[in-house]
Parts: sequence; C-alpha cells; structure tokens
Amino acid sequence: MTAPSSASTARWPVYLVIGLFVLVTIIFLGALALTTESELVIPPTVVAALTADTYMDKVSVLLQNADASRGALLVEQHGCTACHREGAVNKIAPSYDGIAERAATRRPPLTAAAYIYESITNPLAFVVEGYNPSMPQNFSQQLSDQELGDIIAYLLTPTAH
Ligand code: HEC
Repeated sequence: MTAPSSASTARWPVYLVIGLFVLVTIIFLGALALTTESELVIPPTVVAALTADTYMDKVSVLLQNADASRGALLVEQHGCTACHREGAVNKIAPSYDGIAERAATRRPPLTAAAYIYESITNPLAFVVEGYNPSMPQNFSQQLSDQELGDIIAYLLTPTAH
C-alpha cells in the first residue's frame, strides 16, 4: 500500500502550478495597483513638480517672439480688464498697476514671468490675499502659446498699463 505517499508525490506539480498562478496573480494585481495609482496622481504631481525652473523653461519659449502691444489688445479682447480694472475701489481683482514688480515677489522662487504664466494658466495654484478665487480657469485652453507670451510680455512692461 504505497498509495498515500505516491499520491502526494504525484500532486507536487499541481501545487507548483497553483503556486505559480498565485504568484503571477499577485504580480499582476501589484502592477495594476501601481498603474492605477500613478494615473490617479498625475495631475497633482505635475502641478507640484512645476518649479521656477520648469515654468521658466516653458515661459522663456513663449516670450521668444512675444509682442507686448498685441498682449494689450488680447487683454481687452479676452475680458481680463473687466475684472482687472484700475482704481482703488476695484475689489474684483488686483489692478495691473505695478504687476511687473509685484509678480516677482508673489511666489518665490517663481520669477515675475513664471508667476504671471501660472496666474493665467493655473489661477488656483496661488490666490492673491483678499480676493476670491474667481479668475476663470480655462484661459490655458482659450489662449495659444503665442497669445500667452504676448500677454505676459505686456504685463511685464512696467509702463504699459
Ligand atoms: C472674472 C474675473 C477675472 C477675469 C476675467 C480675469 N481675472 Fe485674473 N484674477 C482675478 C482674480 C479675482 C485674481 C486674484 C485672485 C487670484 O489670485 O486668483 C486674479 C489674478 C490674476 C493675476 C495675478 C495678479 C497679482 O497681482 O498677483 C494675473 C497675472 C491675472 N489675474 C491675469 C489675468 C489675465 C491675463 C486675464 C485675461 C486673459 C484675467 N486675469 C482675467 C479675476 C479675473
């Protein structure tokens, strides 16, 4: 009667297959969890990863052929000045008066250009104290890179507004 021992000997390939199956399943689920997690965290990671340098990489390209006078027109056309009006009584949005100097101090280490770029394309990244986060969030879709460059150049020109 060698049945029990021969049966258990004969079963080892089954255990091996089950073991391998479990291992592969664990690896697959692990990989799936990692992929799903990284897909979920992409937007915040990208935003958090934007530093003065990464903004500047983008902004310096935009500024290469920028035209401040076209920027002045765009700011009118896109209704920026409806909120960003001059005058002490304006409480909707900060006036563009002095923006060129102020922008450099708003969010160190962001340069003035990088800060203005961020303010337009990702307004919620920093909300100026004393104001509501009411700036439209879709300008990055409405404005081309050229137009963004023109507007930034206009706002960076201290005497233009
Ligand atoms: C509906 C009103 C509204 C419109 C339209 C609007 N903004 Fe704003 N903007 C705001 C408000 C409110 C703030 C201050 C709160 C904040 O930081 O989001 C702001 C902040 C900014 C700042 C930062 C100012 C500072 O002093 O730090 C810049 C730059 C700016 N906007 C540019 C623009 C440009 C360019 C446009 C048009 C393409 C525009 N905004 C259109 C409401 C508006």
